[in-house]
Amino acid sequence: MSKLILANFKSNKSIIDTNLWFEKFLKNIDDSVLSKLDVSVAPSFVALVSAEKVLEKIGKNVSLSIQNISSFPAGSYTGAISGQNLSGLKIKYAVVGHSERRKYFGEKSSDVALKVTQSLQNGIMPILCVDTEYLEEQFGLIDKKELEKCIVAYEPISAIGTGKNADVGKVKGVVEKVKRLAGNVPIIYGGSVDEFNINEYLMVTDGALVGTASLDADQFQRLLEAVS
Ligand code: 13P
Repeated sequence: MSKLILANFKSNKSIIDTNLWFEKFLKNIDDSVLSKLDVSVAPSFVALVSAEKVLEKIGKNVSLSIQNISSFPAGSYTGAISGQNLSGLKIKYAVVGHSERRKYFGEKSSDVALKVTQSLQNGIMPILCVDTEYLEEQFGLIDKKELEKCIVAYEPISAIGTGKNADVGKVKGVVEKVKRLAGNVPIIYGGSVDEFNINEYLMVTDGALVGTASLDADQFQRLLEAVS
Protein backbone atom coordinates (compact mmCIF):
# COMPACT_ATOMS: atom_id res chain seq x y z
CA MET A 1 0.00 0.00 0.00
CA SER A 2 1.29 3.50 -0.84
CA LYS A 3 1.42 5.87 2.09
CA LEU A 4 -1.94 7.60 2.51
CA ILE A 5 -1.87 11.36 3.09
CA LEU A 6 -5.31 12.73 3.80
CA ALA A 7 -6.00 16.47 4.03
CA ASN A 8 -8.82 17.30 6.42
CA PHE A 9 -10.08 20.85 5.87
CA LYS A 10 -12.55 20.54 8.77
CA SER A 11 -15.09 23.43 8.69
CA ASN A 12 -12.70 25.78 6.88
CA LYS A 13 -13.05 27.37 3.42
CA SER A 14 -15.95 28.59 1.29
CA ILE A 15 -16.82 26.72 -1.90
CA ILE A 16 -14.86 29.31 -3.91
CA ASP A 17 -11.81 29.06 -1.65
CA THR A 18 -11.93 25.27 -1.86
CA ASN A 19 -11.98 25.46 -5.67
CA LEU A 20 -9.06 27.89 -5.65
CA TRP A 21 -7.13 25.54 -3.37
CA PHE A 22 -7.73 22.59 -5.74
CA GLU A 23 -6.82 24.63 -8.84
CA LYS A 24 -3.57 25.83 -7.30
CA PHE A 25 -2.58 22.53 -5.73
CA LEU A 26 -3.39 20.37 -8.75
CA LYS A 27 -1.65 22.69 -11.21
CA ASN A 28 1.53 22.91 -9.15
CA ILE A 29 2.00 19.42 -7.74
CA ASP A 30 4.18 17.14 -9.80
CA ASP A 31 2.73 13.82 -11.01
CA SER A 32 5.90 12.06 -9.83
CA VAL A 33 5.10 13.12 -6.24
CA LEU A 34 1.48 11.96 -6.48
CA SER A 35 2.36 8.64 -8.12
CA LYS A 36 4.27 7.46 -5.01
CA LEU A 37 1.46 8.32 -2.61
CA ASP A 38 -2.26 7.92 -2.04
CA VAL A 39 -3.37 11.55 -1.67
CA SER A 40 -6.92 12.39 -0.69
CA VAL A 41 -8.64 15.61 0.33
CA ALA A 42 -11.70 16.01 2.56
CA PRO A 43 -13.29 19.42 2.02
CA SER A 44 -16.68 20.39 3.45
CA PHE A 45 -19.67 18.48 2.06
CA VAL A 46 -20.95 21.52 0.16
CA ALA A 47 -17.66 21.87 -1.73
CA LEU A 48 -17.47 18.25 -2.92
CA VAL A 49 -19.38 18.65 -6.17
CA SER A 50 -17.37 21.59 -7.47
CA ALA A 51 -14.08 20.12 -6.18
CA GLU A 52 -14.82 16.97 -8.18
CA LYS A 53 -15.32 19.09 -11.30
CA VAL A 54 -11.93 20.76 -10.80
CA LEU A 55 -10.34 17.35 -10.24
CA GLU A 56 -11.89 15.96 -13.43
CA LYS A 57 -10.79 19.01 -15.40
CA ILE A 58 -7.18 18.89 -14.26
CA GLY A 59 -7.01 15.10 -14.06
CA LYS A 60 -4.52 14.32 -11.31
CA ASN A 61 -4.13 11.29 -9.10
CA VAL A 62 -5.91 12.76 -6.07
CA SER A 63 -9.18 11.49 -4.57
CA LEU A 64 -11.96 13.07 -2.55
CA SER A 65 -12.93 12.06 0.96
CA ILE A 66 -15.57 13.08 3.48
CA GLN A 67 -15.13 14.20 7.08
CA ASN A 68 -18.19 12.45 8.43
CA ILE A 69 -21.15 10.30 7.36
CA SER A 70 -24.59 9.81 8.86
CA SER A 71 -24.93 6.86 11.21
CA PHE A 72 -28.32 6.24 9.55
CA PRO A 73 -29.21 5.08 6.06
CA ALA A 74 -31.29 7.26 3.71
CA GLY A 75 -34.58 8.32 5.31
CA SER A 76 -36.16 10.82 7.66
CA TYR A 77 -33.04 12.11 9.43
CA THR A 78 -33.21 15.87 8.92
CA GLY A 79 -29.86 17.52 8.38
CA ALA A 80 -27.84 14.30 8.18
CA ILE A 81 -25.80 13.39 5.10
CA SER A 82 -26.31 9.74 4.24
CA GLY A 83 -24.25 7.54 1.99
CA GLN A 84 -27.09 7.67 -0.54
CA ASN A 85 -26.89 11.48 -0.64
CA LEU A 86 -23.31 11.07 -1.85
CA SER A 87 -23.88 8.46 -4.52
CA GLY A 88 -22.67 9.67 -7.89
CA LEU A 89 -19.68 11.36 -6.30
CA LYS A 90 -16.37 9.50 -6.28
CA ILE A 91 -15.65 9.41 -2.57
CA LYS A 92 -12.77 7.19 -1.48
CA TYR A 93 -12.55 7.56 2.30
CA ALA A 94 -14.83 8.67 5.14
CA VAL A 95 -13.28 10.02 8.33
CA VAL A 96 -15.42 8.57 11.12
CA GLY A 97 -15.33 9.27 14.84
CA HIS A 98 -12.99 12.25 14.73
CA SER A 99 -12.43 13.50 18.30
CA GLU A 100 -13.92 16.87 17.34
CA ARG A 101 -17.16 15.04 16.51
CA ARG A 102 -17.06 13.45 19.95
CA LYS A 103 -16.19 16.72 21.71
CA TYR A 104 -18.54 19.16 19.97
CA PHE A 105 -21.36 16.92 18.69
CA GLY A 106 -21.58 14.32 21.44
CA GLU A 107 -20.75 11.41 19.17
CA LYS A 108 -20.33 8.11 20.99
CA SER A 109 -18.45 4.94 20.09
CA SER A 110 -21.81 3.29 19.33
CA ASP A 111 -22.61 6.04 16.78
CA VAL A 112 -19.18 5.64 15.23
CA ALA A 113 -19.73 1.89 14.85
CA LEU A 114 -22.91 2.62 12.85
CA LYS A 115 -20.97 5.08 10.70
CA VAL A 116 -18.45 2.38 9.85
CA THR A 117 -21.33 0.19 8.64
CA GLN A 118 -22.89 3.02 6.60
CA SER A 119 -19.59 3.90 5.07
CA LEU A 120 -18.81 0.33 3.99
CA GLN A 121 -22.33 -0.24 2.71
CA ASN A 122 -21.86 2.76 0.43
CA GLY A 123 -18.50 1.64 -0.91
CA ILE A 124 -16.49 4.21 1.05
CA MET A 125 -13.53 3.06 3.11
CA PRO A 126 -13.79 4.21 6.76
CA ILE A 127 -10.87 5.99 8.39
CA LEU A 128 -11.67 5.15 12.00
CA CYS A 129 -10.22 7.79 14.34
CA VAL A 130 -9.25 6.71 17.83
CA ASP A 131 -7.35 7.88 20.86
CA THR A 132 -5.98 5.48 23.46
CA GLU A 133 -8.67 6.12 26.11
CA TYR A 134 -11.49 4.66 24.05
CA LEU A 135 -9.69 2.53 21.51
CA GLU A 136 -10.71 -0.80 23.05
CA GLU A 137 -14.31 0.29 23.62
CA GLN A 138 -14.51 1.48 20.01
CA PHE A 139 -13.08 -1.69 18.49
CA GLY A 140 -15.34 -3.82 20.68
CA LEU A 141 -18.45 -2.17 19.20
CA ILE A 142 -17.52 -2.79 15.57
CA ASP A 143 -18.24 -6.05 13.81
CA LYS A 144 -14.91 -7.87 13.40
CA LYS A 145 -15.30 -8.29 9.63
CA GLU A 146 -16.05 -4.56 9.30
CA LEU A 147 -13.15 -3.59 11.52
CA GLU A 148 -10.79 -5.53 9.25
CA LYS A 149 -11.91 -3.29 6.37
CA CYS A 150 -11.12 -0.02 8.18
CA ILE A 151 -8.04 2.13 8.18
CA VAL A 152 -7.37 3.15 11.78
CA ALA A 153 -6.21 6.72 12.45
CA TYR A 154 -4.45 7.26 15.76
CA GLU A 155 -5.22 10.87 16.59
CA PRO A 156 -4.12 11.79 20.12
CA ILE A 157 -6.35 14.68 21.22
CA SER A 158 -3.40 16.51 22.81
CA ALA A 159 -1.69 16.70 19.41
CA ILE A 160 -4.61 17.98 17.33
CA GLY A 161 -4.22 21.59 16.26
CA THR A 162 -1.76 22.30 19.08
CA GLY A 163 1.61 22.09 17.34
CA LYS A 164 2.48 19.45 19.97
CA ASN A 165 2.89 16.44 17.70
CA ALA A 166 3.07 13.09 19.48
CA ASP A 167 6.28 11.30 20.31
CA VAL A 168 7.03 8.81 17.55
CA GLY A 169 7.88 6.09 20.08
CA LYS A 170 4.39 6.48 21.56
CA VAL A 171 2.84 6.26 18.09
CA LYS A 172 4.80 3.07 17.40
CA GLY A 173 3.47 1.56 20.64
CA VAL A 174 -0.12 2.42 19.70
CA VAL A 175 0.37 0.95 16.21
CA GLU A 176 1.45 -2.33 17.81
CA LYS A 177 -1.54 -2.27 20.15
CA VAL A 178 -3.98 -1.61 17.29
CA LYS A 179 -2.51 -4.52 15.32
CA ARG A 180 -2.93 -6.78 18.35
CA LEU A 181 -6.56 -5.77 18.83
CA ALA A 182 -7.79 -5.20 15.28
CA GLY A 183 -5.52 -7.37 13.15
CA ASN A 184 -3.30 -6.24 10.33
CA VAL A 185 -5.25 -3.07 9.41
CA PRO A 186 -3.47 -0.05 7.94
CA ILE A 187 -2.80 2.61 10.59
CA ILE A 188 -2.18 6.30 10.04
CA TYR A 189 -1.27 9.10 12.44
CA GLY A 190 -2.82 12.55 12.81
CA GLY A 191 -1.97 15.49 15.06
CA SER A 192 0.18 18.52 14.10
CA VAL A 193 1.79 16.74 11.16
CA ASP A 194 3.78 19.10 8.94
CA GLU A 195 6.47 19.07 6.26
CA PHE A 196 9.20 18.86 8.94
CA ASN A 197 7.93 15.88 10.92
CA ILE A 198 5.96 13.83 8.35
CA ASN A 199 8.77 11.38 7.61
CA GLU A 200 9.14 10.39 11.27
CA TYR A 201 5.53 9.20 11.30
CA LEU A 202 5.68 7.48 7.95
CA MET A 203 8.51 5.30 9.32
CA VAL A 204 6.08 3.72 11.81
CA THR A 205 2.67 4.11 10.14
CA ASP A 206 0.91 3.78 6.78
CA GLY A 207 0.14 7.46 6.41
CA ALA A 208 -0.99 10.72 7.93
CA LEU A 209 -4.12 12.74 8.52
CA VAL A 210 -3.25 16.41 8.10
CA GLY A 211 -5.36 19.32 9.35
CA THR A 212 -3.73 22.74 9.71
CA ALA A 213 -0.81 22.04 7.37
CA SER A 214 -3.21 21.16 4.54
CA LEU A 215 -5.13 24.44 4.48
CA ASP A 216 -2.58 26.32 2.42
CA ALA A 217 -2.09 24.64 -0.98
CA ASP A 218 1.62 25.52 -1.14
CA GLN A 219 2.25 24.21 2.36
CA PHE A 220 0.45 20.94 1.62
CA GLN A 221 2.46 20.61 -1.59
CA ARG A 222 5.71 21.08 0.37
CA LEU A 223 4.56 18.44 2.86
CA LEU A 224 4.03 15.91 0.05
CA GLU A 225 7.32 16.82 -1.59
CA ALA A 226 9.08 16.31 1.75
CA VAL A 227 8.00 12.64 1.89
CA SER A 228 11.12 10.60 1.26
P1 13P B 1 -3.93 19.20 12.85
O1 13P B 1 -3.04 18.72 11.73
O2 13P B 1 -4.36 20.61 12.68
O3 13P B 1 -3.31 18.92 14.18
O4 13P B 1 -5.26 18.34 12.76
C1 13P B 1 -5.16 16.96 12.79
C2 13P B 1 -6.49 16.37 12.54
O5 13P B 1 -7.38 16.47 13.36
C3 13P B 1 -6.69 15.72 11.26
O6 13P B 1 -7.91 15.07 11.21
